[in-house]
Amino acid sequence: MVPLPSRALSRYLALALAAALGALGVVYSYTMLAGRGSAAVPDEAASRRLAAVRGAMAHAWKGYRDYAFGQDELQPLTRSGNVRWGNWSISLVDTLDTLWLLDMKDEYAEAKAYVQKIDFTRSPRGYRVRVFEMTIRALGGLLGAYELDHDPALLAKAAEVGSTLAAAFSSPTGLPYPSIDLNSRRYRSTTRLCIAEGGTLQLEFKKLAQLTGNKTYADLADRAYEALEAAERPIRGLYPTFIDVNTGKYDLGSEYSLGGGADSFYEYQLKQHILHNHKRPQYGAQYAAAVEAVKEHLVRKSQAGLTFVGRIARHGGAYVPEMQHLACFYPGLLALGAQVMDRPQDLPLAKELARTCYLTYKHSPTGLGPETFSFRNQTGNIREPPAAEAGEQAAASLDDLGIVVVDPRYILRPETIESLFVLHRVTGDPVYREWGWDIFQAIERYTRVEHGYAAYRDVRKTTPNGNLDDSMESFLLAETLKYLYLLFAPPDVLPLDKFVLTTEAHPLRIMPN
Ligand SMILES: *[C@@H]1O[C@H](CO)[C@@H](O)[C@H](O)[C@H]1NC(C)=O
Ligand SMILES: *[C@@H]1O[C@H](CO)[C@@H](O)[C@H](O)[C@H]1NC(C)=O
Ligand SMILES: *[C@@H]1O[C@H](CO)[C@@H](O)[C@H](O)[C@H]1NC(C)=O
Repeated sequence: MVPLPSRALSRYLALALAAALGALGVVYSYTMLAGRGSAAVPDEAASRRLAAVRGAMAHAWKGYRDYAFGQDELQPLTRSGNVRWGNWSISLVDTLDTLWLLDMKDEYAEAKAYVQKIDFTRSPRGYRVRVFEMTIRALGGLLGAYELDHDPALLAKAAEVGSTLAAAFSSPTGLPYPSIDLNSRRYRSTTRLCIAEGGTLQLEFKKLAQLTGNKTYADLADRAYEALEAAERPIRGLYPTFIDVNTGKYDLGSEYSLGGGADSFYEYQLKQHILHNHKRPQYGAQYAAAVEAVKEHLVRKSQAGLTFVGRIARHGGAYVPEMQHLACFYPGLLALGAQVMDRPQDLPLAKELARTCYLTYKHSPTGLGPETFSFRNQTGNIREPPAAEAGEQAAASLDDLGIVVVDPRYILRPETIESLFVLHRVTGDPVYREWGWDIFQAIERYTRVEHGYAAYRDVRKTTPNGNLDDSMESFLLAETLKYLYLLFAPPDVLPLDKFVLTTEAHPLRIMPN
């Protein structure tokens, strides 16, 4: 295995790059992106925390390796595996780059050797391969590992995934069908596609095109994205959640949100801008228009002073003051955009939203955050949330803060930690490490089981008995633990002026244009 590049060397290269960018008069600040400041100072607490996160990763991976190796997911309570993602060994391919980054050499070598045995052209009879999920987890996973390791065998497997999924783009509009049946060769499924499904393929397909030299992949991704962008919609900057693949028309009665079905579409506007090294101005302009629309239509402040992102209900419905954990990626996106698009005006909102997401963890009895929550807005017992400082005592309950738990599960999701990581890189404020550490400790305390980590059923209940689900999704390994690691790692590990992280946290190198 190729050793990791030395820290000193990569820091030197980063400084040289910064100097070159400065000479070219590049306006955005490298130092902020690379998190110089307090974050770069070697920090004893950070090293201890890094070691703890590495320990968690070793534990999670061991569970998968011992009881589910080569299958899609570990079922940690029954010590078994499942193939619910079409038998593409999805936890294994999704985790390769995390193993590499954490320098788990033996585990990485063993997993990489297994990749050659996976047949990405097949799946069990009757199974429909989900284009979005397999793009972000399988294609993204293989590309992320290739970008670090440069082993052509990984790229060949990524191309195998790409050519299998390319068959889904055979619609009249160029939008992909949401799923394909590899056995019947009848690719069409439903024609109802979420914007996240059509608009979260572009980073992976464009990177595959660049690395293989096969432009078809980029063309497929561009055509799908343009269909989403071109279709008529009533609110500038916002996109209805559903579109019809055959007609290319939005379902104007569908909801508007930053949650499931929509979330990563908005993420890839900014991230295409970054992947293309700011050379394609349309993506930045679309991102900026979306941010303005989100501020106007979706962001509100509750009576207790918490800023959140709600949604507009179906059929031109009312505003709903409800937020999914999934939407907690947005503060990180705003912080990244504040930096790379020179939009400092977005940073205060990024910080407020991140704080709200963190408080849903902080003030729940377990310290774990719920899957969906809403905000009460009547006068009464609502208390102002205390200034959230490191080490502060949990004074209020969620109810005191006017937060209503709608779906009480915590299924090991990454989004809040992801935003804390980006905010820490962008601002250098050590509070984000403290918040991330709080969350990590709650994960350790309540979801760690003998053979891995298990989804938690009710974050309001502190007795794990009967409260665990037999599920460990691959994003725990691909994202949650990776973002925790990156939060405590020095900023020259995956510097954000060289890499863009996909929606599944796979690192892709920024392209020349
Ligand atoms: C999954 O793939 C493995 C390896 O190719 C194979 O041995 C196994 O039978 C497959 N499982 C199912 C349910 O198709
Ligand atoms: C490029 O990829 C597409 C989709 O997989 C494939 O049909 C085509 O043959 C490839 N072109 C080359 C030159 O390999
Ligand atoms: C809460 O009520 C105030 C005053 O009635 C209003 O301005 C604000 O928009 C409401 N917030 C939400 C989230 O509905």
